[in-house]
Amino acid sequence: MKKEILFSREAIGRRVRELADGISRDYEGREVVLIGVLKGAFVFLADLIRNLRIPCVIDFVRLASYGSKTVSSGEIVITKDIETPIQGRDVLVVEDIVDTGLTLSFLVEKLKEKSPRSLKVCVFLDKKERRKVPFEADYVGYDIPDRFVVGYGLDCNEQFRFLPDVYVIGEGESPNRH
Ligand code: PRP
Repeated sequence: MKKEILFSREAIGRRVRELADGISRDYEGREVVLIGVLKGAFVFLADLIRNLRIPCVIDFVRLASYGSKTVSSGEIVITKDIETPIQGRDVLVVEDIVDTGLTLSFLVEKLKEKSPRSLKVCVFLDKKERRKVPFEADYVGYDIPDRFVVGYGLDCNEQFRFLPDVYVIGEGESPNRH
């Protein structure tokens, strides 16, 4: 499969440090609950926490989408919920990519029901032109065009998550969106 590099591991390392610096400044003196969205976010989250200068705890959530994901976020369900109480706490959701916005807008609404003190979202990649529902992340690693990307946690049929760099897969070779 033809792959073209989009972001090198060195560039990613620099960008993640910048994001972590911004987050550390914004949350100075507070403890943050970081919630990683499985599976794709695990690599980004692992790098992010090692660059933060604030106390943090981590948890994970896993979501599944049924149907076409084109009608409403009602097709998304939580298959693994967080185990950490977040009421009254500062929560930062960490995600690998936002595309239609359906997943994160659903998750944010669900987490708000648990009454966190604050709730923000940090995404590594943002495909803004693909939105079906309005969604704006608080921290964005890179805005990218509507191309299929793999590596750094992102998969193509469960392959390539391990790649340290981010690649674009060639046109016509993308079996699904990312
Ligand atoms: C991807 C990504 C987001 C979602 C974004 O997950 O990690 O959770 O899709 O798409 P959206 O904005 O259109 O809702 P995916 O379903 O590929 O699962 P994975 O993280 O396990 O690879």
